[in-house]
This record gives sequence, structure tokens and C-alpha cells, in this order.
Amino acid sequence: MLTRPDVAVVGAGPVGLAIAWRCAARGLRVTVHDPAPGSGASHVAAGMLSPVAEAYFGEHELTGLLAESAARWPRFAADLAEASGADVGYRADGTLVVGLTADDLAEARRLWSYQQGLGLPITPLRPSELRDREPALAPRVRGGAVAPGDHQVDPRRLVPALRAAAERAGAVLRPARVGALSEVDARVTVVAAGCGAADLTGLPVRPVKGQVLRLRAPGRGAPDFRHVIRGYADGESIYLVPRDSGEVVVGATVEERADTEVTAGAVLRLLRAAVDLVPELAEYDLVEATAGLRPGTPDNAPIIGSLPGRPGVLVATGHHRHGIVLTPVTADLVTELIVTGEPDPLLAPFTPDRFGKERRWN
Ligand code: GLY
Repeated sequence: MLTRPDVAVVGAGPVGLAIAWRCAARGLRVTVHDPAPGSGASHVAAGMLSPVAEAYFGEHELTGLLAESAARWPRFAADLAEASGADVGYRADGTLVVGLTADDLAEARRLWSYQQGLGLPITPLRPSELRDREPALAPRVRGGAVAPGDHQVDPRRLVPALRAAAERAGAVLRPARVGALSEVDARVTVVAAGCGAADLTGLPVRPVKGQVLRLRAPGRGAPDFRHVIRGYADGESIYLVPRDSGEVVVGATVEERADTEVTAGAVLRLLRAAVDLVPELAEYDLVEATAGLRPGTPDNAPIIGSLPGRPGVLVATGHHRHGIVLTPVTADLVTELIVTGEPDPLLAPFTPDRFGKERRWN
């Protein structure tokens, strides 16, 4: 590409690649800058699309955006399959939220009562109903609920599919690190660099470490359970994400740290909770233990929109625990903003200017 691009996207994780794809598909000239596409948080992510099970106290605006994006996912996955020729493993089996002990169940119930109060689809189940749905659960699991609209995709299939779709639409990947925004020359620059956005923009994005395990069913058949399971087990909060390939993702720690070391203690806690909830997992192969850095923000919500004082610079970062679910809505809203110049009202709670003049909180 010899002419100046219309859009330069800094960061080739799911959010950056989806923006690149959508913009290129609208006829814009797009470059994407990243020395190692898909090597950030998405490489570790489990891929839960959980607008309900991840609706937490005091985050109702974020919950609205999660629900909006989750509703866009089926169409997004279908469009992406058509544009890339690849399947991203979208599965709509739903999510079970379970508690191992009476205390765990009380904690889970507090959260799902709040979620029901918001009108979100989550339905408590009797223990027998729970086990009918998922016989692989341990008999001593005290109870749970089902969130039928909380689905999943496989982030490790998503990134190559997005890259193929973006490149087929004409986007050009530049495999180099961008150390400062002055190194990029385009009509619009979009910073979608996860934790790297902090240095590039001064916005308050900080790393939040998550340690994650990947198990594999013996014989490489599919796991014996189909739902995503979010469980409270002796005070640990974990999730189990089964894939058709036989993989089960077990996550995750939430640590205010910036390293990506895997610790014995975290592996022990995740495995103990996993096996307490689904005993057959003790027979699975442990194939991977990794840690990634979620881009966290002071209010746990993403930062999407124009960077104050920097005409032509947009930001799409700070997706924290929700990068995968928020990919479609982020890409759609940023693309519309670039094409029309008008921010969608959905963006109002998430714009970079909400942090005021004090841009560096971390
Ligand atoms: N969304 C799951 C996590 O961040 O661990």
C-alpha cells in the first residue's frame, strides 16, 4: 500500500482485527500494526460470551454493553465464517452457575438474584434438574442456575479467522511494534493495543493478570459436559469451558500484577476447584498452564472513542475480562464512528474523556 491509509489500527488482537476487517469491508484503506498478532490476552482467554454470568454489582452500564454485544455475536460469527472461510467454534449450549458448598451456593445466589433483578435470563435449578442437565457435576454440588444465553467461542480460532477476513477485505498487516503514535501516519489511528494503550495514550489502563489451564479429555473425544460451568468451590471462583476438540479451559486468577509467570499455588487452586466440581477432570491431561494480562480500567469498563486533545486518534481498549464478548459491538461502533464521524449513543458511558484531565491513574 503506497498511499496513506485511511485507518491504522495499532494492535492485532480480536478487537483490533475486527475493527480492521469491518473498516476494510467498508472500502477504507487499512493497515494493522502488531509484531505478534493474537499473542496478547486473547491467546489465554477462554472465550466465554457471558453477559449474564459476568454481570456484577454496580456495573449496570457495562452489563448493557455486554448484552448488546452478545446479541450481535451469532450474526458476527456467521459473517466472519463467510468472510474468512473459518469456523470460530461458536457454541450456544448455555452456562451453569453452581455452588459446591452451602456458603458457595449462597454467594452464587446473591449474584444471580442481582442478575434476575436486572431482568437478565438466569433461572435457578433444583439439584436434580442441575444433574439432569450435567451428570458430570459432582454429587456434592449443592445447587445452581442456568444462563441459557451465555455462550462461547474459541479465541484461538477467532484471531486467525479475523486476520484472514481483514486481509481478504484488503487490510495490510505490518508486523512491527509501534512505540509512539507519531510513528503511524494515517487519517485515523485506532489504538487497540490492550495494556500497551497506557504508554501510547496515557489512559489509565493497567495489567490484571489471569492464570489459566488447558486440559484435554483422554482419547481426544469431547468432554462429557457441554455447558460452560461457572462455579464457586470452597470460596474459589472458577470457570470450565468445554470444547468439541476435547479441550477444557479452566480459569482464572484475577491478580493485580504485571508478570506472566505461572505459580504452583494458582495451578493447585484452579485444579482443586475444577476437580471438586467435575471429578472426571482428574483423569484429563494437563496440557497447558499460561498467564495473560487483561487490560483493566478504574471502573472495569472499556475505553472506546476519540482521545481528547488528539484529533484523528481513537481508542478501543480496557476490555478487561470482556474482550471476546465485546469484540463485535466495539468493532461496529468504532467503524461507524470512523465512517460517519458521529459517536453512537451506546458509546457515551465508555468514552476516554470520562477520566478527565487526570489521565494516568495507574
Ligand atoms: N472473562 C474471564 C476472565 O477474564 O477470566
